[in-house]
Amino acid sequence: MNILLTGAGGQIGADLVSALVAEGHRVVATDLRPQPERPGATWKQLDVTHAGDVDAIIHDVRPDVVYHLAAILSASGERNPTLAYEVNQTGTWHLLEACRRHAVPRFIYTSSIAVYGPGLPDPCPDDVPLHPTTMYGVTKASGEMLCEYYAKKHGLDCRGVRFPGLISASLPGGGSTDYALFMYVDGIRRGGYESFARADTRVPLMYMPDGVRALLELAAAPRERLARTIYNIAAFSPRADEIAASVARAVPGVTITYAPDPLRQSILDSWPRALDDRNARADWGWRPRYTLDAMTDDLVPKIRALLAGGANLAH
Ligand code: NAD
Ligand code: SER
Repeated sequence: MNILLTGAGGQIGADLVSALVAEGHRVVATDLRPQPERPGATWKQLDVTHAGDVDAIIHDVRPDVVYHLAAILSASGERNPTLAYEVNQTGTWHLLEACRRHAVPRFIYTSSIAVYGPGLPDPCPDDVPLHPTTMYGVTKASGEMLCEYYAKKHGLDCRGVRFPGLISASLPGGGSTDYALFMYVDGIRRGGYESFARADTRVPLMYMPDGVRALLELAAAPRERLARTIYNIAAFSPRADEIAASVARAVPGVTITYAPDPLRQSILDSWPRALDDRNARADWGWRPRYTLDAMTDDLVPKIRALLAGGANLAH
């Protein structure tokens, strides 16, 4: 199949592009920034805020599936809400319009726990009132609704997941859940990390191999099995100090301390502590494979190898 990704140079794209290439697809990976060549994928520069450029690339590539990843994440978005609105809201609109105009068969959307606000049940189901506290969450909730609108009004096959915070062996892009990865990276390269989240912070998290597999499985699911447009998916919900304990098991002697950052802590405190993903499990067979400790066992050697090879994982 012909696959086009936006925001392919980010944390998810780093692993999703190679997974799609490995499945044998023709992959056009786009991002705002020029990217280093990845074997098997064609890289093109694309700013999703430019409607004409978005339309032209969809017209040229004629993708069977679009994975729309380009976004400004929660913490960066609160520092620059105008940019977050432009990229997340207007950019998503441009993609949906171009997909409608050029009859793209399938559109995969990457939403987030950030669509939720405070005071919701734990675990939090799919259908509850959405009162996000960040511009990122507002634009993600709006993107979900746009997907539903384009599906109903124009028959565009939109599908999406609400991701927990994702952890992988590459630099995250300015999210509020980044403390979790930094515990591993700084724990290994410096012997310690000062967490910007309190020790008792508990939010839903997921290891990237599960996140990438979720996107591939949702994209491949038969349409008639899907009763919804957007699905919660969940893996594990550790407290920050439970992550620290898991890191310490694999990296003996590591010291994790806590100095909460008011902006990112307030965002984390506004999110549910766990997600109810029973609809994804029932409709398309979603199951996470990695627990916190299984992730730690897989991730620590990968980060060690990257750091030994000179990778820049400084934040
Ligand atoms: P990231 O920040 O690592 O990558 C986003 C990419 O978008 C970057 O490479 C950036 O250059 C690109 N981008 C920014 N502005 C752009 C523009 N104007 N035009 C084109 N590209 C632009 O993010 P990620 O972690 O890879 O997330 C991918 C998607 O998954 C996002 O939509 C995000 O909201 C969603 N998501 C991520 C997480 C997570 O924990 N990583 C959790 C929930 C949802
Ligand atoms: N990890 C993301 C963030 O913190 C969640 O969407 O912004």
